[in-house]
Amino acid sequence: MYTMRDVCCIVVALVMSCYGHKADSGSCTPTLENALFEDLLSMMLKIKGIQKGTNQRDETSSAFAASLTAARTLGTGEIVKFDKVWTNVNNDYDPSTGVYTAPKQGVYQFLCTVMTANNKTLRLLLWKNDMKTVAVYPGNSGYNTGTINMILELKKGDKVYIKQASLDKLYIYSESAYNYSMFSGYLIR
Ligand SMILES: *[C@@H]1O[C@H](CO)[C@@H](O)[C@H](O)[C@H]1NC(C)=O
Ligand SMILES: *[C@@H]1O[C@H](CO)[C@@H](O)[C@H](O)[C@H]1NC(C)=O
Repeated sequence: MYTMRDVCCIVVALVMSCYGHKADSGSCTPTLENALFEDLLSMMLKIKGIQKGTNQRDETSSAFAASLTAARTLGTGEIVKFDKVWTNVNNDYDPSTGVYTAPKQGVYQFLCTVMTANNKTLRLLLWKNDMKTVAVYPGNSGYNTGTINMILELKKGDKVYIKQASLDKLYIYSESAYNYSMFSGYLIR
């Protein structure tokens, strides 16, 4: 891959050689020089663009998915720690706290599917820093699932997590063999 410095050296070398020719043969007309310069300029811009694109792809990947390995009775206001990590590109999700931290400014999607314990109530909220966003409140006859599907614009360092939402709606269900409750998210762009 050419660097900008390499390309600048090539440009300088070509322009110099052109002047060299002009001195003895006069073959390098001003029109030719301009055309040559424009070609080289557009080549430099293209190379710069390619390099920028490559860097952006490297920087921007962030995606995680995690599930619960067991049923839990949550504490009031407890952050749910989805402990089995399936994917953690860029390590922005911390399973020991349940918190996802945005690595850069961008648009993110978050999904959360949870199951209630049998005939029990559960209410959870997706938080962005200290702000509540949307909730899930599945029914309480049998085992019920509910889903959050959210898109958020985040700044670098913003924190997103799933937190128990009210006094007695505490009962989240999962099993290690069937991973019914999960949380995932990724940087769209
Ligand atoms: C759940 O509720 C149903 C319907 O009310 C009832 O038949 C069943 O016994 C309940 N199960 C438990 C574990 O409480
Ligand atoms: C749930 O996750 C466990 C690993 O924690 C895995 O062994 C099991 O096969 C998964 N269950 C299903 C239904 O995929």
